[in-house]
Amino acid sequence: MSGRVRVRPGVPAAALGVLAEAGLAADVGALDATDADALLCLLTDRIDAHFLEGARHLRIVANMAVGTDNIDLAAAARLGIPVSNTPDVLTDATADLAFALLLAAARRLAWADRYVRGGGFVGWNPELGLGLDVTGRTLGVVGAGRIGKAVAERARGFRMEVLFHSRSGGLALDLLLARSDFVSLHVPLTPATRHLIGARELARMKPSAVLVNTARGPIVDEAALVQALRVGQIAAAGLDVFEHEPALAPGLRDLPQVVLAPHIGSATIATRARMAEVAAQNIVAALRGEPIPNRVI
Ligand code: NAP
Ligand code: GLV
Repeated sequence: MSGRVRVRPGVPAAALGVLAEAGLAADVGALDATDADALLCLLTDRIDAHFLEGARHLRIVANMAVGTDNIDLAAAARLGIPVSNTPDVLTDATADLAFALLLAAARRLAWADRYVRGGGFVGWNPELGLGLDVTGRTLGVVGAGRIGKAVAERARGFRMEVLFHSRSGGLALDLLLARSDFVSLHVPLTPATRHLIGARELARMKPSAVLVNTARGPIVDEAALVQALRVGQIAAAGLDVFEHEPALAPGLRDLPQVVLAPHIGSATIATRARMAEVAAQNIVAALRGEPIPNRVI
């Protein structure tokens, strides 16, 4: 099989193995698909209409991510360039991280670590490090898809009541926000979900509530979140993604009740290798003229 495949630096070597097995040479380099038949890109690569219009030979954009908000899907559709993603293989890793953030924010783990390292721990104290109960509380899952459902599975192990809100059903968002002790976001970033959680929604949450975002930063109005945390409108947050990633909203890093992670939802060695393989398999299928397993458009 022939075809020029541009692969972005940082894509795990597992992808190159899949491409080599199919007889495809990968060219690891800059974000330029002028002469490429296929592009294996990262979620940090902005694939806009201008880029796609300049890529005259492109037969697939294979994103190494399940989210495709970095790609102008409408332009790709107009130009007839298929786009694929890497669903399923990262569901468990991302759900694990969401639940880790939920526990860490509830039980103040980031604060506790800093406290001990800073030499503050001089002895057990009945009032030291008091946090929030998780077991038996109510979790609101916003976006009842693959990852949202996997987070719910974990929550049931903690005997939590789980509420869902989704485009196609479940509880109204306002009701879920008012009833939940923990709210975990799992919707894709689209025009409809940008700032889905803003000042109005944060005001509907319990003062004891914890917000977890492992979906996409712009789903939350981060300035409104900082304000809500400052005045105690909600209790805490666990964030893996940020509105203007990698920058943080002013004031966010100063809030001790927030646990921050650098977009590592799918970051396990095995999961990232599987994502790379899946993205490469999508390319092999496209260049063979076969159905693309994870075609988004
Ligand atoms: P998925 O299976 O497609 O689930 C998305 C869910 O969101 C679906 O249930 C969908 O509802 C719902 N939804 C879509 N638009 C909505 C809206 N406007 N209002 C309410 N609900 C809406 O996707 P997934 O595999 O779980 O992944 C979810 C997202 O997680 C990805 O898009 C990505 O941005 C993010 N992610 C982040 C990381 C990380 O490293 N932090 C890792 C993986 C994924 P319907 O079923 O009703 O359409
Ligand atoms: C990660 O954020 C993904 O969308 O896969």
